[in-house]
Amino acid sequence: MTAPDTIECRPIGLVHSRFTAVEGMPIQTAGAPDEPGRIELFPDYAAGLKDIEGFDYLIVLTHFHRCMQERLEVTPFLDTAAHGVFATRAPARPNRIGLSIVRLMSVEGRTLHFSGNDMLDQTPVLDIKPYVPRFDVRDTQRIGWFAGRVDALAQVRSDDRMG
Ligand SMILES: C[S@@+](CC[C@H](N)C(=O)[O-])C[C@H]1O[C@@H](n2cnc3c(N)ncnc32)[C@H](O)[C@@H]1O
Repeated sequence: MTAPDTIECRPIGLVHSRFTAVEGMPIQTAGAPDEPGRIELFPDYAAGLKDIEGFDYLIVLTHFHRCMQERLEVTPFLDTAAHGVFATRAPARPNRIGLSIVRLMSVEGRTLHFSGNDMLDQTPVLDIKPYVPRFDVRDTQRIGWFAGRVDALAQVRSDDRMG
């Protein structure tokens, strides 16, 4: 069977956050660990939340729905030089898929309250996975052009360059 040219995704829910515009918002959840938000899952997917309260952190895959650009080279928020988009976490990428690791604070029905937010209000959620350090953490030294820049994470905020 050959791979399809296009793949259709259905949002499973929406992010609710205080950010209604990209200007001035955090660029990574690690840079705004206390920023609250919530995900409301659509009713059809609620059964998929069984046992989710057992995890401290979740991996949230999203669609950058307000980003209209698709670029192969971008100047990311943390740099003044251009990089290949796959060497960045920039929104203006093919398929516009975001990956945010958030801290799960509580579960209320099909609402997940979390802390650590870099997502606009109404961001469509494509998937949620439990964060499992044994699977997801690597001890690594090489972080490419991010070296020397990640320390600025908490200070750097987004602008509309990827709009
Ligand atoms: C640099 S991305 C990082 C997102 C995720 N942590 C990642 O690494 O994939 C975060 C930025 O994406 C932009 N953004 C967030 N939600 C968006 C949305 N729904 N549509 C378009 N841009 C969005 C904002 O500029 C925000 O600061």
